[in-house]
Amino acid sequence: MLRHQDDAPAPAPEPAAPLIELRGIDKTFGTVKALSGLSARVGRGEFVTVVGPSGCGKSTLFNIVAGLEEPDPGGALRFEGRSCHAADLLGRVSFMPQRDLLLPWRNVIDNAILALEIEGRPRKEARAEAMRMLPEFGLAGFEAQYPHQLSGGMRQRVALMRTFLFERDLMLLDEPFGALDALTRALMQRWLLDVWQRHRRTILFITHDVDEAIFLGDRVLVMTARPGALKLEQRIDLPRPRRPDLVTAPEFIRLKRTLLEAIEEESLKSFQVAQENAR
Ligand SMILES: Nc1ncnc2c1ncn2[C@@H]1O[C@H](COP(=O)(O)OP(=O)(O)OP(=O)(O)O)[C@@H](O)[C@H]1O
Ligand SMILES: [Mg+2]
Repeated sequence: MLRHQDDAPAPAPEPAAPLIELRGIDKTFGTVKALSGLSARVGRGEFVTVVGPSGCGKSTLFNIVAGLEEPDPGGALRFEGRSCHAADLLGRVSFMPQRDLLLPWRNVIDNAILALEIEGRPRKEARAEAMRMLPEFGLAGFEAQYPHQLSGGMRQRVALMRTFLFERDLMLLDEPFGALDALTRALMQRWLLDVWQRHRRTILFITHDVDEAIFLGDRVLVMTARPGALKLEQRIDLPRPRRPDLVTAPEFIRLKRTLLEAIEEESLKSFQVAQENAR
């Protein structure tokens, strides 16, 4: 172990400024308060997963971080240590929205290069880059197919490929595997971890599936019922690469119990509020 000259333990290294940091973020839509005092941070290269009851403001959080919505005045947003407005983040973050949003009239390659084209890249160059990426995304030979000719898993991979091609410091994935069957989903999770480790990206990932949140994440953020705030931040110190049988390990199950308890408590609250409003 490294020691100082006086043999005192070395001080812990200064943590680098987080890539993105939110402090006390509020967001109101008319009479609906979607977020209230939400604080969170994501370090460079981290894989952070977000869970919370339906309607608690997860996608709203993503829309703010993607620069599509401004939060209410009062909170603070910092990117690479510098204070900024949400609008400054537009184009600095790649974003896969909750629905895959593939354009039905564009084939696989032309869907994949959409963000690059909007950015002004020559189509030929963008297509060549996407073609090189096809095998890694399990889409080799499918470049000329249209979305309706693809399986659900393939459509998700096209949308993910589009997000990866738009190379930005931070990737936001809003329930990217929500529509998949359990088996395809497990395969896609392992594949995504593989791609993440090769490309060294920072990922913020929303899911409703606690197993998925633990299996993928370095940290899991649990949000409260609406208005969304951070309820619990759980570090996941499970070894990587994560193997499929990890989900049966005692440590995994212990983490799952803690997280489920926190989510249950919040889901129950949002259910009670919904019932009261219905009366
Ligand atoms: N553009 C908008 N205009 C008005 N209300 C909105 C808008 N976007 C979100 N909301 C409201 O804000 C709240 C949070 O919505 P949000 O989509 O962020 O939830 P969520 O946690 O992503 O839910 P889910 O898990 O179901 O996807 C909801 O009550 C929603 O109706
Ligand atoms: Mg959502």
